[in-house]
This record gives sequence, C-alpha cells and structure tokens, in this order.
Amino acid sequence: MKLLIKKGRIIDPINDLDMVGDILIEDGRIKEVGENIEELQTKVIRAEGYIVSPGLLDMHVHLREPGYEAQEDIESGTAAAACGGFTKVACMPNTDPVVDNAAVVRAILSRAQQVGSCRVLPIGCISKGQMGKELAEIGDMVEAGIVAVSDDGKPVADSGLMRKAMQYVKAFDIPVISHCEDPYLSSGGVVNEGLMSTKLGLKGIPNAAEEIMVARDIILAELTGTRLHIAHVSTAGSVRLIREAKKRGVKVTCEAAPHHFTLTDDYIKDYDTNTKVNPPLRTIKDVEAVIEGLVDGTIDVIASDHAPHTVEAKSLEYDHAPFGISGLETMVPLVVSNLIDKGILSWMEALRKLTKAPADILKVPLSGIAEGSPADITVIDPNNSRIVDPASFKSKGKNTPFKGMELKGWPVLTICGGKITHSSLDV
Ligand code: DOR
Ligand code: ZN
Repeated sequence: MKLLIKKGRIIDPINDLDMVGDILIEDGRIKEVGENIEELQTKVIRAEGYIVSPGLLDMHVHLREPGYEAQEDIESGTAAAACGGFTKVACMPNTDPVVDNAAVVRAILSRAQQVGSCRVLPIGCISKGQMGKELAEIGDMVEAGIVAVSDDGKPVADSGLMRKAMQYVKAFDIPVISHCEDPYLSSGGVVNEGLMSTKLGLKGIPNAAEEIMVARDIILAELTGTRLHIAHVSTAGSVRLIREAKKRGVKVTCEAAPHHFTLTDDYIKDYDTNTKVNPPLRTIKDVEAVIEGLVDGTIDVIASDHAPHTVEAKSLEYDHAPFGISGLETMVPLVVSNLIDKGILSWMEALRKLTKAPADILKVPLSGIAEGSPADITVIDPNNSRIVDPASFKSKGKNTPFKGMELKGWPVLTICGGKITHSSLDV
C-alpha cells in the first residue's frame, strides 16, 4: 500500500528537520521526502496545519499482560498507545508472573507480534520475582530482547543488590531504570507529605523518600560507571541532584510524567482516587522545578507511566485504592497544552523528549523521517481542542485525573511500519 502525506510541517529531532513538505510511504518504509511529491495511485493524506513527527516512543508503560488483563492487556494497551500517537512503548515488568526470565520476555514479544498496534520493547526485572533479594536472569533476558532492567513499582531497597545489578548490566550496555523510593520513609503513605496530607488526614510520602534514593543511585552509578535512568522524577530536590550529577559527568538520565508537570496535590482535595499515583502529586514548587528541568535538559524524556487500573479498584477508599494513572491517551495533548502552547518547550524540544531521547537511552535504532526508514509516523493537530473523556479511551484503564479538562493538540494519525494504527482523519 502507498500513502502520501502532503504539506504537513515535518519536525524531526533525529535528522534536525523542520520543513513543510510531503512524505511518500511504500511497503512499510519511507520512499521519499520532499517539498512537493507528485504521485498517482496513492492514498493522499492532507496534512496542512498539522505537525508530522517520527513515531513517538513512550518508555514507561504498564501493559499488565501477563496476569492483570482486567486492568489492561497487550492488545488494548498498544491500541491505546497508537491512539495516543505512539509507535513504540517500553513495558514495565511488574506483571504476574513478573518478567524475570527469558520465557516471559518471549511470550510478551510474540503476543505483541500477534495483536499489537505498536512495537513493544520489554523491560526485565532487576531482581528475581521483583523481591529485591537476588538478581533476575538478566543475561538471558537481554538475549531474548529486553531493552533495560527495572523493578518499577517497587524500589530496590538493598543498595548492595543495586550495585550488583549496575555492575552486571554494564556488559550488555543497557540502562538500569530506577523507581526511586525509600520504602522505610514512604511506608504506608498515599499522598505527598505536606499541608494537604495533614488537612485531609491522609498519610504522607515526603520528598526525601524519593531524593534519598536518587542520591544513592547517582552515587552507585558513579561507582560502577553504569548508565542509570531515573523514572518519574517528581520533586525539586531530585531535579537538583540529577542536574548536579550530570554536570559532574555521571551517566544519569531521567524522565518526568505529564501529571508531575501539570498537577499539584491540590487536586486530591475531593479524595478522587484517580489522583493517587506513585510518586504522588507534589507541590507547586516541585511542579515548577520539574518544568525547569525539562527546559534546561536535566529531564531528558517525557514518559507517561501509563498505569491502568479497574474502576472497581479505584472505587475503594483513598487509602486502599491502587496507585496509577492511565496516561497514554492524554500524554500528547498535555504536552502541547501545558508546555508547547505556553512557550515552555518548542515543538522540536518536546518531540525530542518523545522520540530521540528515549530511543538513545534504550539504544533503539531510529532513523526518523528519512528515505529508507521504517514508516513510523505521528501526525498531530496542534489546534484541535477536545474534552478528555475516559469512556472513549482504547485503554481498559479509565483512571484519569484529567477527565473533563479541555486539552489541545491531539494526535490525528499514527502510522506504524506503513500501517495506519490510528486515524481520526478521513482515511
Ligand atoms: O502509580 C504507579 N503505578 N506507580 C508505580 O510505580 C507503579 C504503577 C503501577 O504499576 O500501577
Ligand atoms: Zn515507578
């Protein structure tokens, strides 16, 4: 099948390209990029006024399969990804069974091949059973195709084990992704520790619970020379620690999730469990620091931490409901509305954090909008405003604190390997 995308604004951080032009796609690849391509017998997509980007990559997604298919599965999760403009997602290993051996990695990859609407990059566990006691079968999992290791959802409390993991993965040149949380400090907490937690009578999680582990892991990365990636940065102190470590040349990268640069703990005032997330929503000072980190490059990546949960589970009391926000389908409009439209990041900078930056960290080869590249493309309408309606999500997870908000900049077309995986256009 042939496709011609005409007159879009092509913004490609991989090839440093910002031009109005056409893209011709044939047999799953980009055949030609030019100012004006004339081609007969092809489907034409009129993209005037739209942004055309290399397919987006979300490096922090919970697809829940195997084991928690009531929350999400590979089919629904990748459909949600396509709808959100993503052609690649890296999926976290806190499934059941957890991803701590090659067989589970292969099972995920093969399921993704069968029913996936985007490419799936599995992340393996750091520890066996995610129990934090001994290393998982990391070498075997690398051979099977993992792109990183992480015990995400749970911190690695044992510094000795974290050091071992960092030393061990060096041979494979994959990063350790750290969920930074000191479990003895966060213990039993459900929201940010501060004025709000006191007012509402909910147990708080101090910023220090995150920052102590950020500091520890930076020190261990320095000791071992390993590439460390810090997941979902949420506090001003974490941003400061990472900024300072980068200056010293430590191989540390990090990501922020949209809820951490858009919402404060004020949003929990009505006990809406859709605001319950780990790390928790923090204060305005933290939100501003995260934004500053995005601007000065301390924060390399924007990732959703898509964490779908069932309506039943989220209907429990605040203390008992699970942590997590269903994030794939609101990520792009949150970035456009809160960062690009406000002049905080340029399109090029924002798209870099959604394409080249995560790909470089995970060593996923990306050639962008160039002749011969796989046709992975995301088209965004920067002006289209819509109200967030979780009922229309492809994800099984309807748990979003953004419900009812008006956001601008929705993906209108996603193409993965030359196939249209999402379209709200007339094609
Ligand atoms: O809010 C969260 N939900 N944070 C995590 O680290 C894990 C995730 C989940 O798996 O639900
Ligand atoms: Zn996490």
